[in-house]
Amino acid sequence: MPLVPMTAFLSKAKEEKFAVGQFNMNNLEFAQAIVQAAKEENSPLIFGVSEGALKYMGMEFTVAMAKAAADWSGLPIALHLDHGSSFEVAMKCIRAGFTSVMFDGSHYPLEENIRITKKVVEVAHAMGVSVEGELGTIGGTEDDISVDESKAHLANPEEAIRFWKETGVDCLAIAVGTAHGIYKGEPKIHYDIIDEVARQIDVPIVLHGGSGVPDESIKKAISYGVGKINVNTENQVAMTNTIRDIFEKDKKVYDPRKYLGPAREAMKEVVRGKIRLFGSNNKA
Ligand code: 13P
Repeated sequence: MPLVPMTAFLSKAKEEKFAVGQFNMNNLEFAQAIVQAAKEENSPLIFGVSEGALKYMGMEFTVAMAKAAADWSGLPIALHLDHGSSFEVAMKCIRAGFTSVMFDGSHYPLEENIRITKKVVEVAHAMGVSVEGELGTIGGTEDDISVDESKAHLANPEEAIRFWKETGVDCLAIAVGTAHGIYKGEPKIHYDIIDEVARQIDVPIVLHGGSGVPDESIKKAISYGVGKINVNTENQVAMTNTIRDIFEKDKKVYDPRKYLGPAREAMKEVVRGKIRLFGSNNKA
């Protein structure tokens, strides 16, 4: 199956109250672990690619791996730019074969965020590509970008509703208390914001910082209108811990397949668990 935009499955997610996982792709083993789990669970899937990961893997390899995963699995898979920083980078990705892009203008004043997001939506939609926008500031660390928790601020529901009406994005990330990276304590999620916004917009809310959020909180967020959840850190930790254990036990190992293979298996089980938790199994 060719890669699809997120609109191929997101309205169903909102209607039927499940969420589709955006699992970030950082290399071949990530791509394989994610798509293997999704295939066994018969789930739609979003490959998220940050600008840092794109630089690491290269545009051609990124698109080729996602296309191979979609062909091999027969699943509806979107290849999605995560936290795109400019109109230009979004266009570059669309041209190369991405079927979905995020423009993250959350650090701009509202009017400017709306203006640029709208421009991305106009071009993307004309080309059958879906768009995610962002409002409020999500704290934590992703790639080389860190946002101090004290500087992160929650999304204003009225602004979020206006943002959706004026931009026409296909899903909307709003800061509701989750953060990228590893949590120090338990995240305090503002379900009231999710509820108020979700009731007044037709598209699902996106929850960034999905790693380390307790299962019950995830279920509650979905019940209020979250339809896309991003996960990267838990897969990174699963991969690295597995490799670290193998190196500690066997100082002589030198064949990368001997540690990358088990690391891939560990990530696959993380993804399987998230797919079941999000309720997207058997929704492909
Ligand atoms: P985590 O760091 O919690 O996995 O979040 C990933 C994310 O939100 C990517 O945009």
